[in-house]
Amino acid sequence: MTVVRAAIAVGSNLGDRAATLDGAVAALAGLPNTRVVARSRWRETEAVGGAAGAPRFLNGAVLVETGLGPRELLERLLSIEARAGRVRTPGLRDEPRTLDLDLVAHGRAIVDEPGLTLPHPRAEERLFVLEPLAEIAPDLVLQRSGRNVLEALARLRPPATQRRAIRALERPAEAGAACQALRAEGARIGFVPTMGALHEGHLELVRRAARENDAAVVSVFVNPLQFDDPTDFARYPRDFAADVRLVAGAGAALAFTGTLASFFPGELDAQGRLPAERLLDPGPRALGLEGQYRPGHFAGVATIVARLLDLVEPHVAYFGEKDFQQTLVVKDLARARGGPPIVVCPTSREPSGLARSSRNERLAAADRAEATAIHAGLCAARQAWIAGERDATRLAATLRAALASSRLALEYAAVRDPELWSAGDPDGPLERAVALVAARIGGVRLIDNLRLDGEAAEWS
Ligand code: PAJ
Repeated sequence: MTVVRAAIAVGSNLGDRAATLDGAVAALAGLPNTRVVARSRWRETEAVGGAAGAPRFLNGAVLVETGLGPRELLERLLSIEARAGRVRTPGLRDEPRTLDLDLVAHGRAIVDEPGLTLPHPRAEERLFVLEPLAEIAPDLVLQRSGRNVLEALARLRPPATQRRAIRALERPAEAGAACQALRAEGARIGFVPTMGALHEGHLELVRRAARENDAAVVSVFVNPLQFDDPTDFARYPRDFAADVRLVAGAGAALAFTGTLASFFPGELDAQGRLPAERLLDPGPRALGLEGQYRPGHFAGVATIVARLLDLVEPHVAYFGEKDFQQTLVVKDLARARGGPPIVVCPTSREPSGLARSSRNERLAAADRAEATAIHAGLCAARQAWIAGERDATRLAATLRAALASSRLALEYAAVRDPELWSAGDPDGPLERAVALVAARIGGVRLIDNLRLDGEAAEWS
């Protein structure tokens, strides 16, 4: 039996909170093959994200040594919650709860499955988790970032002097000048390029950029160069003012937008288009999959990203693993121009497993439910990898079989070596693997992917 250390965040904002939390510690101590190593003191915190006037929480953390696996431990936590009178209302996240037990980390396990993500994807963003953990497990590594609890805490609490009101600019040239001024002051800039219609996935990138730098800069531009489908471009939601409010809340110092003409002054032709010879070659990793199904897409991405990097000149730029092939293209681009380093952030998912996307909003409820089959299919391929399957063709077949019964119209469901990349399907055994899917449902095109080998998103 392997025994690992597991960290559990505990909280209550209903009933006799302290008695409930003490009871939870006793229940944890009573689990098979489990020993409570330490518990923090209970501390009072505001309810985060709940309705106004929601009762305050009592929060803490418990460290156990356990022979239970992650799933088994999670099941036990759910039943301790249920015994304490916790009622889970489907779809409701922020209702008052007698007891909330969150598995934050289980040894060094990295798990990305429906209902269980380890280490807990939001642990690093929550003071009410990090502060009690710092008392009992300051060295605990929150593996997604490689940082330990104290380092994560330091990033979450920037000195008040570093927080500034957001500036919102509608001209790229002005944004470029503002970035230059920031750099002249000695500020380290973290850049997050986006197309707006921001959701929690984008905001996670912005929060991280704000935490890890002196100034987070966000661009919001629906880039026509990368759309191969004019209807998709026309339907893409645009509300700069709303996006500015969101990124301000996530800690950004500057948000900017612009028009194609203002990003490429003097370079457009009489029809207002960028001449083809001005498009950048996105390189070999743009071939296959997205490159095949969306001709010209990555040339458009590379061209705008290069222009944005020239304007902002960030110390580091943040991209989401959700767009896996894009991260490869952008890393190649950054390497070729001598920087900046590209940080790839994990895919943010809805509780159903569906990867967050601005396009999800266009899905009817039934299609949105059906779309969860994508993540389920990716998890099936991951299970095959965990069970020892390494053959590229059989891994891809497992993925396709898992998706076969859904109503999704598949464009591709494929497996690649994420480092070697290949336009076509690889065959033979793989050392590393990522599974990638593109599918349409209800007139919406969705993409998603999952590292099968459990490698976390990383620096390049
Ligand atoms: P957009 O789709 O708006 O995404 C902006 C950034 O947010 C990208 O790096 C994307 O990968 C990331 N992102 C989107 N959904 C995410 C999720 N669920 N989890 C984690 N990250 C997520 O990607 C683009 O815009 C454009 O191609 C751009 C790079 C801005 C160039 O125009």
